[in-house]
Amino acid sequence: MATDNLTAVLYKVNDLRLEQRPIPEPDDDQVLLRMACVGICGSDVHYLVRGRIGDFIVKDPMIMGHEASGIVAKVGKNVKHLKEGDRVAIEPGVPCRVCQFCKEGKYNLCPDIVFCATPPVHGNLSRYYVHAADFCYKLPDHVSLEEGALLEPLSVGVHACRRGGVGLGSTILITGAGPIGLVTLITAKAMGAAKVLITGADYTYLSEVGEDEQETVKAVHSLLGGPPDVTIDCSGAEANIRLAILATKSGGVAVIVGMGAPEVKIPLVNALAREVDIRGIFRYANDYPIALSMVASGVANVKKLITHNFALEDTIKAFEVAKTGTGNPIKVNTHAPSASHPVCPLFTDILYAVLGVLNSKPSADGEYVKECTSILRAAELLCPEISSFLKLISFSASTVADRVNDLAGDTQCQLKETCEDVAYSVETDENADGTGIAQFAVFLRGISENFLLVAKRRNRI
Ligand SMILES: NC(=O)c1ccc[n+]([C@@H]2O[C@H](COP(=O)([O-])OP(=O)(O)OC[C@H]3O[C@@H](n4cnc5c(N)ncnc54)[C@H](O)[C@@H]3O)[C@@H](O)[C@H]2O)c1
Ligand SMILES: [Zn+2]
Ligand SMILES: [Zn+2]
Repeated sequence: MATDNLTAVLYKVNDLRLEQRPIPEPDDDQVLLRMACVGICGSDVHYLVRGRIGDFIVKDPMIMGHEASGIVAKVGKNVKHLKEGDRVAIEPGVPCRVCQFCKEGKYNLCPDIVFCATPPVHGNLSRYYVHAADFCYKLPDHVSLEEGALLEPLSVGVHACRRGGVGLGSTILITGAGPIGLVTLITAKAMGAAKVLITGADYTYLSEVGEDEQETVKAVHSLLGGPPDVTIDCSGAEANIRLAILATKSGGVAVIVGMGAPEVKIPLVNALAREVDIRGIFRYANDYPIALSMVASGVANVKKLITHNFALEDTIKAFEVAKTGTGNPIKVNTHAPSASHPVCPLFTDILYAVLGVLNSKPSADGEYVKECTSILRAAELLCPEISSFLKLISFSASTVADRVNDLAGDTQCQLKETCEDVAYSVETDENADGTGIAQFAVFLRGISENFLLVAKRRNRI
């Protein structure tokens, strides 16, 4: 039975600690999750640096993290739709389910919502965590756990675009090009927007209070070939919120996602005289399934937003990068499996090459391909840290091999031996001098060769 539940706890401003916590037990309607990826969000950094966001104040130690995915380790007795081993994305806000808002489907507005890492509620930046099972979404085999974690910010983009009524052929202005602006951009394109202009990143326009707003509006219109139907502010900057109203087409919508100063000055008469609707958004409701479909179908490629990866053990460093912006991060991701080696540049390449082979044969014996893919996913969830993968192999080599042997059936798959060889070499590689890395590559090649062999024997290639 596992006992290691390394957890990132924020004690107070700039006092983030990694410590052991007991592994929780799931209630009847919950699942215990072995956490996989947890992204660091601007709000986490805000709590770290300021200890509060508006009225939410960190008074007691709080576990960080809310953009997460994990693997079901145990299910409560009422849980029917998930089983041990399922890979899930975790929607971090669990509402009361009985109030008026919940009944109307606007559960994001539920006054009793319990939302990860919003004080006093704990988050899930830990090795194990329990969550309401109905707020966990099973990932299809071809959707990675990293993508699963990214469904959280993506759902914000989906909610913003739905509130704004983005649709086929829409012209959109997005102000603010941080992670939220970028997921909004991805969503707007996926929803069929014809033209999207985004501001706020390096080398693009940064608005300022006091600038000649009419000139800016003109510039936006000329770049877009007319006024945007919808403007979505993802910066919270007053100048942008003003621009959102001024630049939007009469009868259009200005969606405000950015949370900046609690009070700002806006051109209200301009908005009402031109019937520009001003709509706020708060997180998301019923958007996770849409976000997941977008990723699963390939219309949204969010993976490229991850610029930095850290092991859970290196959470403090991960926050340092997110806080200081060192290396120009977009999304900083933490991975729960332990890792002490540097990331192997070969890992993802090899893995994806193998996945590519498998995915390029989607109709070839569906079950077989699915199984192969899950095995490789199982490898991937161990994160891009090669040593984690090697560690896993060392205790589950025989399990993996058994499954592969089942698959390979009468083909006398050699993988079991390969696995055992690697396991042996890893176990004996106490100095972690890198020989494991070479073994690892051999191992993966072994997998891919075996799969190709099996596929060939079945005349699938
Ligand atoms: N409403 C919600 O439910 C919700 C959910 C998530 C995030 N948010 C808010 O959305 C905003 C964006 O989140 P993020 O994580 O991307 O933040 P971020 O700080 O990483 O990104 C903000 C972006 O806005 C740009 N920006 C700032 N001032 C600007 C200006 N004057 N002109 C143009 N661009 C400017 C920055 O360059 C940056 O690219 C934040 O305010 C956050 O609090 C709201
Ligand atoms: Zn977030
Ligand atoms: Zn409710």
